[in-house]
Amino acid sequence: MRKIRILPSILAADFADLGADVRAAMEAGGDLVHVDIMDGHFVPNISFGPDVMKAIRHVTAAPFDTHLMISPVDPYLEAFARAGSDIITVHAEAGPHLHRSLQAIRALGKKAGVALNPGTSETAIEHVMDMVDLVLVMSVNPGFGGQSFIPGALDKISRVKAMIAGRDIALEVDGGVTADTAGAAAAAGADFLVAGSAVFKGGRGKFAANIAAIRQAAESAIGLVA
Ligand code: DX5
Ligand code: ZN
Repeated sequence: MRKIRILPSILAADFADLGADVRAAMEAGGDLVHVDIMDGHFVPNISFGPDVMKAIRHVTAAPFDTHLMISPVDPYLEAFARAGSDIITVHAEAGPHLHRSLQAIRALGKKAGVALNPGTSETAIEHVMDMVDLVLVMSVNPGFGGQSFIPGALDKISRVKAMIAGRDIALEVDGGVTADTAGAAAAAGADFLVAGSAVFKGGRGKFAANIAAIRQAAESAIGLVA
């Protein structure tokens, strides 16, 4: 049976109390921690690096899903593997040798993911479908939290779902995922739902209800709950 996983994007957490917020989000029902790494070059924003990630790695036993929005990416893969990543995702647009980056991630003993910007066709990853454990379809232009879901991502999710063709590859959607958009994303085929603002809004007392609302919207859209 299909399982929906909710991934709190810690970009929307309280950076002054990051460890506590991450722990709270996972205790509130998050399944994996989504870590957004931005370099001010591949995307027009800077977040944080592997040392910050390493500092919070111990607050939960949940897997860490590292989304690298950086270019070049290859020189930093080892640092993010050592910092405690379980999945490392690189952008198809981030460099000329995507296949080599994915090989390097697997050689480090980590699961490999590939991400697609809204403007990139899924044909860009046809040649690496046997190299990945996860495909991330961006539903906003990467760089910032709190943006609106781009509806065109839904058709792309469906097309990537068809490309996955039953293989053991997670289909992740990232950007603008809320209780209002999670249903359509899940119905299109997404099973890993990243959510930043929609999880962390309202402070720690609200995380559980926020996550439950997203999960319920997704599961009801695919017939898992009444
Ligand atoms: C955007 C990041 C997202 C972001 C999502 O570049 O990759 O993970 O944090 O934030 P929301 O859920 O607020 O759109
Ligand atoms: Zn992300």
